[in-house]
Amino acid sequence: MTAGVLSVGSYVPTRRVSNDELALTMDTSDEWIRSHTGIGNRHIASDDEPTSFMALRAAEDALARAGVSKEEVDQIIVATITPDYRDFPATANLVQRDLGVPHVGSFDLKAACTGFAYGLAVGRGLIDGGVAKKVLVIGAEKLSAITNWEDRSTAVLFGDGAGAVLLGSVDEGRGIQDSILRTDGTGAEALFMPAGGTSTRFSPETVPQDLFLKMDGQKVYNFAVRVNVEIVSELMERNGLTPDDIDYIVPHQANFRIIHAAARRAKIPLEKYYLNMEEYANTSSASIPLALSEMDRKGLLKPGMRILTVGFGGGLTYGGNYIVW
Ligand code: ACO
Repeated sequence: MTAGVLSVGSYVPTRRVSNDELALTMDTSDEWIRSHTGIGNRHIASDDEPTSFMALRAAEDALARAGVSKEEVDQIIVATITPDYRDFPATANLVQRDLGVPHVGSFDLKAACTGFAYGLAVGRGLIDGGVAKKVLVIGAEKLSAITNWEDRSTAVLFGDGAGAVLLGSVDEGRGIQDSILRTDGTGAEALFMPAGGTSTRFSPETVPQDLFLKMDGQKVYNFAVRVNVEIVSELMERNGLTPDDIDYIVPHQANFRIIHAAARRAKIPLEKYYLNMEEYANTSSASIPLALSEMDRKGLLKPGMRILTVGFGGGLTYGGNYIVW
């Protein structure tokens, strides 16, 4: 037995904001956003929908789809960079409370847009190591709360939502076969929130813009294309796979131009990549499980299929997993 995905769930806020709606309050256009990113819409959470709320809904959906009761869950991991509380308690603790599973361990994992890829590997390790039998791995983000809505170069890119998988033991030959988790810390400030931490404490002098996400778009773009190729190529090589063997690559949904460029360089047909940033924009750690959930609902995921996930983002972190569904 090895660890694998038993089910996928998701939650997306109902409020849907189109590019045209953004253009009413910002100097941008549907044409610019679509041609530069592939994004058409994003969903924005209300004040009543903090990250823990969306994470809980996605987790409940995953449990219902697996037909597994909450009492069977041994561990909850929430990958997020937009926790309900800045430092503690962990958002996962709030999910644990609201799911109503006393004493189940829970923790947050902070690897930005690679958070879910890291979470899958950690959850797999807990199961394969005998620490837990069933683990909820949730990617949940309320990026609208840390977006500077006056900065058109970042505001158009992000959205809110949550996706969750329930991990458990699956038959030999299936499940999470391999994981790669990497970081280039020298790029830590290429995508970050400048103020509010222990090195730059919040004070009356804090510039309000420094409490929002800040990004060097070009640097992140170049990094993202390079590591996409690196992770996908290495996962294939390590596992004796060719592009023909892969059914789907599910990348972090940041920008279609990143994926197009990476696919071209890796010589992998673009059709192998599942893309849905048109509807949800970049939801950071939620984007891969949101895509998996959508694929599952469409009936695209069949037992035995070979799936690669690939994440990249703030940190600068990157990584991926090879899963036999
Ligand atoms: N609407 C209209 N014009 C805009 C907008 C906008 N929303 N944003 C920028 N522009 C303008 C700029 O002002 C600039 O105008 P200028 O030439 O008059 O100075 C022009 O468009 C080009 O700007 P660039 O920044 O050079 O645009 P670029 O082609 O590099 O695209 C983008 C910007 C889309 C952000 C790109 O750099 C990118 O995709 N980077 C990666 C970002 C990303 O995916 N980050 C997330 C990954 S990690 C994570 O998921 C957290």
